[in-house]
Amino acid sequence: MTTTHTPRVFSGMQPTGNLTLGNYLGALVNFVALQERDEFADRLYCVVDLHAITVFQEPAELSRATREVAAAYIAAGLDPERSIIFNQSRVTAHAELGWIFTCVARMGWLNRMTQFKEKAGKNKENASVGLFSYPTLMAADILAYRATHVPVGEDQKQHLELTRDIAAKFNNDFSVPDFFPLPEPLIQPETARIMSLRNGENKMSKSDPSDASRINMTDSADLIAQKIRKAKTDPEPLPSEVDGLSGRAEAMNLVGIYAALSGQSKADVLAEYGGQGFGAFKPALADLTVAKIAPIGEEMRRLLEDEGAIDAILADGAERAATLARPVMREVYDTLGLTGGGSA
Ligand code: TYM
Repeated sequence: MTTTHTPRVFSGMQPTGNLTLGNYLGALVNFVALQERDEFADRLYCVVDLHAITVFQEPAELSRATREVAAAYIAAGLDPERSIIFNQSRVTAHAELGWIFTCVARMGWLNRMTQFKEKAGKNKENASVGLFSYPTLMAADILAYRATHVPVGEDQKQHLELTRDIAAKFNNDFSVPDFFPLPEPLIQPETARIMSLRNGENKMSKSDPSDASRINMTDSADLIAQKIRKAKTDPEPLPSEVDGLSGRAEAMNLVGIYAALSGQSKADVLAEYGGQGFGAFKPALADLTVAKIAPIGEEMRRLLEDEGAIDAILADGAERAATLARPVMREVYDTLGLTGGGSA
């Protein structure tokens, strides 16, 4: 995309339940890698607590989980100096622009969102209005900073497309071409969809009722090893070539996790383990996962002992984020003719 906008990264994670290996490999690893890329002027990594309340959250648990996601960001390698780490509710621009975008987005667009259908399930009439309009708030998160690049897993791709549609409609409706950039998703194909350990057809998810389906970032070394030992597989040995993984969803997923955690390609992993059964591969995967994930969990626990320090990081991040959003919001209010509007 050619754009006149300053290259800027924005992404977020919901503070609901435990972060999983899917969140880590699908998004967080990429957040950290982007810190090393000088072409981006800013990197904002948000804990999206306003998104979390689209379904009921116990208030004390929401605060705890918000700090926990911040701790995960830092424990995984985000540096609060080089990245802006904050929680969404501290910066009012998100809610303000979110409302404006609910007036830009069309019902038909939101009706097509597969995540709403999955999350609302059969009980659509009883879902919150916020759950339905959720992607408009996500567009606001990104566009309040005119962010141009958004590292996410595959499941957020449709929401990013909607963000682009909202940006384009706003630019067009108010005759302000290029007011908002059309942000690009940054999706790592190898880790875009980490699957459940119990069923290779389902995404690994913190909302899966079975805890055995996922590795949580705070699982102990023993629990990680146990979940990998019990992961669903098939009876065949591993193939020597990547093609041989097709139609074997569980084998594909475990080899993909090994490849991602070891920084190798699947072909490299199969060059080593092809021809061997899961009896040999699973212990190696368990050791690798424990070596990579358990120290992050330990560091999270250590960081969480000092809530004041985490809150200070979130407050500082929010201040820096608000400084970036303020001039954008000023222009948004002016563009809409909302005279003197906004808190900025
Ligand atoms: P959330 O909190 O569900 O997930 C956070 C990130 O983790 C990725 N992810 C996965 N990637 C690969 N395999 C998996 N099994 C897996 N599970 C989760 C998600 O794709 C995501 O990148 N709506 C977003 C949060 C959000 C946001 C934003 C993201 C709000 N505003 C603005 C980017 C920009 C969400 O619910 O992510």
